Amino acid sequence: MINRDWAALEEEVTSWIKEAASQLRESLTKPLEISEKSAHNDLVTNMDRSIERFLIGKIRTAYPDDKIISEEGYGDGVKNKHGVLWLLDPIDGTLNFVMQKRFFAISIGIYENGHGRAAFIYDVMADELFHCISGSGAYQNTRKLSALTEVAIDDALIDLSPTWLKPNRRIHEEIMTDIVRRSSGTRAYGAASLELAYVAAGYLDAYFTMRLSPWDYGAGLILIGEVGGHYSRADGTPIDILTKQSVLAARPGLHEYMTSHICEQVNHGRFISEPR
Ligand code: IPD
Ligand code: CA
Ligand code: CA
Ligand code: CA
Repeated sequence: MINRDWAALEEEVTSWIKEAASQLRESLTKPLEISEKSAHNDLVTNMDRSIERFLIGKIRTAYPDDKIISEEGYGDGVKNKHGVLWLLDPIDGTLNFVMQKRFFAISIGIYENGHGRAAFIYDVMADELFHCISGSGAYQNTRKLSALTEVAIDDALIDLSPTWLKPNRRIHEEIMTDIVRRSSGTRAYGAASLELAYVAAGYLDAYFTMRLSPWDYGAGLILIGEVGGHYSRADGTPIDILTKQSVLAARPGLHEYMTSHICEQVNHGRFISEPR
């Protein structure tokens, strides 16, 4: 184990995030520079890039030996999980940032040799920080989050990322309609890190998407693990924090119900496919 003062790091990272957040709030009073990445609804702004550079600058100065995986390309070409690895999304929910000016987050997950050690997900406009140092409890600002209890699918509020309806969908729609019909209700908020934080906080019972990147889920999975939630790929196999993949995170019991439902459907010839 690496010798590090995690409590001091928590304080330090929180102060970086709060500083970055005030830059983001300030930026919303001026015109944004917006460009398209892979598609018309895959946007990047000057602020995604500038916040990523700002946070990476802080990390590299304070922890020069650590490695960083981040969305906008200023991180490192990381090939393995050795040492301390930061999974950083400077703005999670860029479309919300641009179109709604709310419900977007700064997300930072820190792993040591592949094990989650610290997580920070900050809802910039709500001034709500979901955070934990693993083993010391998870918090929403100063409120300690309770351990997650079991819930049946019929009583569950499930967040389903609409990626399952897109033309290049990776899952047979019958697998999903069954979940939609049985659950209490479904939601989709458009910022994966916050949706995962909501599972950890018990506001949602599950979050499921067929495609998510390390910077999107890095912090959220640590928070969920800290409160006893379960997570995996759609078929129940473990998540590899270095790759893009499906993510199903939920209260205990519900997670197992959903993954076995999916596997059963796959055995009946319905498809799921992981991103490559
Ligand atoms: C996106 C959001 C969205 C999720 C996408 C992500 P970005 O992140 O988290 O909710 O469905 O898969 O790419 O691009 O806004 O950081
Ligand atoms: Ca993006
Ligand atoms: Ca993201
Ligand atoms: Ca982003």
